[in-house]
Amino acid sequence: MSAANQLYIVTGASRGLGAALAQALLAPGNRLVCVARSPAPALQQAAAAAGVALDWHCQDLSQPEAGARWLQAVLEAVDTPPASATLVLNAGVIEPIVPVAGLRADTLVPHLMTNLATPMTMTAAFLAASERFGCPRKVLAISSGAARRPIEGWSAYCAGKAGLDMFMRSIHAEYAQAPAGREVRAVALAPGVIDTGMQSTIRGADFAQVQRFRDLKAQEQLASPDDVAHRIAAYLQRPDFGSTELDDIRNH
Ligand SMILES: NC(=O)c1ccc[n+]([C@@H]2O[C@H](COP(=O)([O-])OP(=O)(O)OC[C@H]3O[C@@H](n4cnc5c(N)ncnc54)[C@H](OP(=O)(O)O)[C@@H]3O)[C@@H](O)[C@H]2O)c1
Repeated sequence: MSAANQLYIVTGASRGLGAALAQALLAPGNRLVCVARSPAPALQQAAAAAGVALDWHCQDLSQPEAGARWLQAVLEAVDTPPASATLVLNAGVIEPIVPVAGLRADTLVPHLMTNLATPMTMTAAFLAASERFGCPRKVLAISSGAARRPIEGWSAYCAGKAGLDMFMRSIHAEYAQAPAGREVRAVALAPGVIDTGMQSTIRGADFAQVQRFRDLKAQEQLASPDDVAHRIAAYLQRPDFGSTELDDIRNH
């Protein structure tokens, strides 16, 4: 086992916060597995230039079974056990943005698959397939302030992210007494309001508080993905990672 072999799996790394986080993790000794539906050639080039191993996989994470199978296969193929293994559940969608009475299964179900069910099945695969490494393990779910307070029109997103929060707490409870070598530290982290494609979708939607999001953009109040990503990369290294199950990067 080498101290310079930290394995990171980052979902939704093709753009936005996930791409910036993968970029921030391009440090010597790290090894990245990144996944989204579309490729990220600039990230792959940056990894090659930095001499950091990065495996890119195109995978639709609205499919919980396929997502879990994919991650299991990735971890089973790891030949040198890493010094640590970290799963970052970042991939997510915001739509449908509709009143509760307008929710329809054809958009609600894929949303909940992407934002909740696949993160759960992938975590299950991660925990099962990484146990043989006997190394420290972390799960970081990118949550949202909307998991913790409702926003009109966002009921799918609020419910999915609240579910993800509770899932991280469930991991924490289940692994609290795990013996050495089996421990898992899990956090659901709200990242603040970030200038990504998701915010652009929000500003173009029709819901009660939309003007607040338009104003934040107009007043240049959005956090930059790079800045948040660097803060999250530092947060992952904190010795007390996992001590606050539901956290917000703006508190650090
Ligand atoms: N931006 C904000 O202000 C904000 C605030 C709070 C929380 N968040 C959370 O932060 C995370 C990142 O958001 P973002 O703002 O960076 O969003 P974004 O710019 O829309 O990027 C979303 C990422 O998720 C991936 N993704 C979406 N659906 C997928 C699917 N079915 N399969 C695989 N990958 C999928 C996308 O890749 P492909 O499209 O290539 O598949 C993309 O890489 C999300 O969990 C979001 O809820 C964001």
